Parts: sequence; structure tokens; C-alpha cells
Amino acid sequence: MTILVTGGAGFIGANFIIDWLKQSNEQVINFDKLTYAGNPDNLSSLTNNPLYHFIKGDITDTAQIKELLRKHQPRAIINFAAESHVDRSIHNPEEFISTNIIGTFRLLESCRDYWDKLEINKKEQFRFIHISTDEVYGSLDKNAAAFTENSKYEPNSPYSASKASSDHLVRSYFHTYDFPAITTNCSNNYGPYQFPEKLIPLIIHNSINLKALPIYGDGLQVRDWLYVSDHCSAIRRVLKDGNPGEVYNIGGLNEKTNLEIVHTVCDILNYSKPSKDPIIKDYNSLISFVDDRAGHDRRYAINASKIENELNWKPKETFETGISKTVQWYLNNESWVNNITSGTYLNWIHKNYK
Ligand code: NAD
Ligand code: DAU
Repeated sequence: MTILVTGGAGFIGANFIIDWLKQSNEQVINFDKLTYAGNPDNLSSLTNNPLYHFIKGDITDTAQIKELLRKHQPRAIINFAAESHVDRSIHNPEEFISTNIIGTFRLLESCRDYWDKLEINKKEQFRFIHISTDEVYGSLDKNAAAFTENSKYEPNSPYSASKASSDHLVRSYFHTYDFPAITTNCSNNYGPYQFPEKLIPLIIHNSINLKALPIYGDGLQVRDWLYVSDHCSAIRRVLKDGNPGEVYNIGGLNEKTNLEIVHTVCDILNYSKPSKDPIIKDYNSLISFVDDRAGHDRRYAINASKIENELNWKPKETFETGISKTVQWYLNNESWVNNITSGTYLNWIHKNYK
């Protein structure tokens, strides 16, 4: 049997595929456009694994998706493909509308057509898992209760609005066509292979290169951090036992301000890779307050009791264990980040994937 992963060369998708093949003998097809965020290097450990196949492609390309489905007959699709960075969506929203809304729509249409023609038992077993975000629910006040699956949609950035639109399309396909789709809304992930434009890898990279650590606004915005392999285990649980048409919130029970995150990362680095600079002895001294992100959401928090009670899922990592592993991974893989920041891997993509 086969599962199809879209966007599997990005941060969470790559972790999902690597973890999947550690616990399953089921073949995985990774369908990814290889945008700036998609990095085949993330999956280099699977180069010789006969269960892993990569296909370069775009979820807005209906003909290519239809051919892919016809040829590989997946029993499930897990849709990670997206433009994912809020700051980029503020400066250039167009790609977010194209991939996150139109791409999800075309993927849904192609998959519905494929599913519709499956024989009855395959049709019953088929699942479409749509990976979404807690940002669709908007921003919480300091003491407000965490987001549940029934929280109102109040997206505040072009990114979250595009994800909200895709969630609504997924919902409508279940209600209108009985298409067996499930949506997951997850909080902030961190861990290996995260593109260094996102807060935690950016802070690690800038610290060890003695560059300023930009903190937007007052740095007191709160995010609920989840170690990426816990997100991956939640998605596997949803795929196995989740009910079509349902939504599951996934969170780490780790609410932290951005300043707390940055101090924690700097403190770990002070210990693990002390600065040799004669002036900058403490990486915390690189913190630099900069203009706030436009429309910056103040707080996200996830109430994950539905997935915990109904599907018996809980995160394994605490923030302390997860962040130590993460910092260590980036220290052990400095060349991975340097390839990205120097553009080496983009040159390689242009050469190898026309
Ligand atoms: P990412 O930006 O690291 O990776 C996205 C991947 O999608 C890349 O490999 C990219 O090449 C691919 N892609 C982009 N457009 C495509 C297209 N048109 N066709 C095919 N592939 C395309 O993102 P991520 O952080 O791994 O996030 C994955 C998913 O999880 C996204 O849907 C995101 O909204 C969601 N999510 C992310 C987080 C987080 O903290 N990172 C939290 C909750 C939900
Ligand atoms: O909540 C889930 C979302 O988490 C996902 O849907 C998004 O795909 C993912 O990118 C992430 O969004 P955020 O905007 O929360 O993540 P980011 O790492 O960009 O920023 C985290 C917080 O840190 C946010 O409050 C903005 C702040 N920040 C970020 C950067 C890059 C800074 O203060 N300085 C920075 O340089």
C-alpha cells in the first residue's frame, strides 16, 4: 500500500516521512514543488530506501495530480504543501492564495474524483488528512481559554486567512460529497530541518554567527510550542483512528513568550557552544528589539483534550527535552543551515530539477 505526502520536502513533511519509515513498511510518495522552503537534503537519509519516492510537482497542477493518483493508487493523502511563513504572506500574499487556497481546492477535486471511482472497500478506507494551523482561530487575550475545535475562525494574516479558506474547502467536501477528509490544527512546531526564517532556527543561526537577534515588538507574544515528532505522531494517530469530517486540535501544552524562547536558546548555546568573541560573551546580549510584525497575533494556545480523549494521543517531549535536542541538532548540522543561507541548495535544485 501507499501513502501520498504533499509538501514532504519541507520542515514538518520531511520529519513526517522520516518518522513514518521508521515505524512502517508502507511506501511513501513525496510530491513537492521544491519552493525555497522545500529541501531534498532533508530526506537524504532515505536516498537508498526503496519505500521512498520523490516526485517534483505542484498541487495546483490538476493534470499532474490526477496522473499521480492513477499511477500510484494511494490509500491516503496527507497534505502538508503550503506557503507557511507569516512574514512572507504580509509582503507577498499572492503565492499563499495560489498554493494554500487554489492548490488545496485542486488537490481536493482531483482526490474526490479518484476516491469516487475506487472500489467500495478501498473507498471506505481512503483518508485525506489536511494539515492546518492554530492561526486560523486568530489571537487570544492573556487569560482567555485555549482554542478548541469549536473556536470561531478569525484569521488575521494573509497566511492564516489562506489556511482558513483551505480548511473551509476541506470541511465543505466532507459535508457536500461525504469525501473522507479530516483537518488537524496544530500549534507552533520546532525541531530539525526547520527553515532558518522561523524564530527558533533563526535565533540559533544568528547567535552562533554573532548577529543581532531580532525580537518583534515587546517580545511578549505567546506561542504554544510542540516538538515536531510529536506533531508527526499525532498525524499518524489521526490517520489511523480519526473520524472523517472531524477536526482535531494538536498542541504542546507549552505556552511561552518569544523572549522566554530566545533566552532559553541563548542559555543552552552559552553552555553548549560558548562564544569565543572577546566582547560578546553572552548570546543574550545580541537581542535587538525591532518593529513589530503587522497585525501580529498576541497569543495562541491549543486545548488538545479532544485528540487526547478520543484518540489517546499526548506529546512525549517536554519543552526542555525538545529544545535541547533541537539546539543540538542545529549545532551538529551547521552545514545544513549554511547551505540554505548561502543559496547552495537552491543552485543544486535548479541544476537537478528543471
Ligand atoms: P514549510 O514551508 O517548511 O514546507 C512547505 C513545503 O510545501 C515545502 O517543501 C514546499 O516546497 C512545498 N510546497 C509549497 N508549495 C507547493 C505546491 N504548490 N505544490 C507542492 N508543494 C508545495 O512548511 P512546514 O512548516 O513544514 O508546514 C507544513 C504544513 O503544516 C503547512 O500546511 C503549514 O500551514 C502547517 N503547519 C505548520 C506549523 C509550523 O509550526 N511550522 C504549525 C501548524 C501547521
Ligand atoms: O502557530 C502555528 C504557526 O506557527 C504555523 O502555522 C506557521 O506556519 C509557522 O510559521 C508558525 O507561525 P509564527 O508566525 O508563530 O512563527 P514564527 O517562527 O515566524 O514566529 C514565532 C514568533 O516569533 C512570532 O510571534 C513572531 C516572532 N518573531 C519571529 C521572527 C522570525 C520574532 O520576534 N522575530 C523573528 O525574527
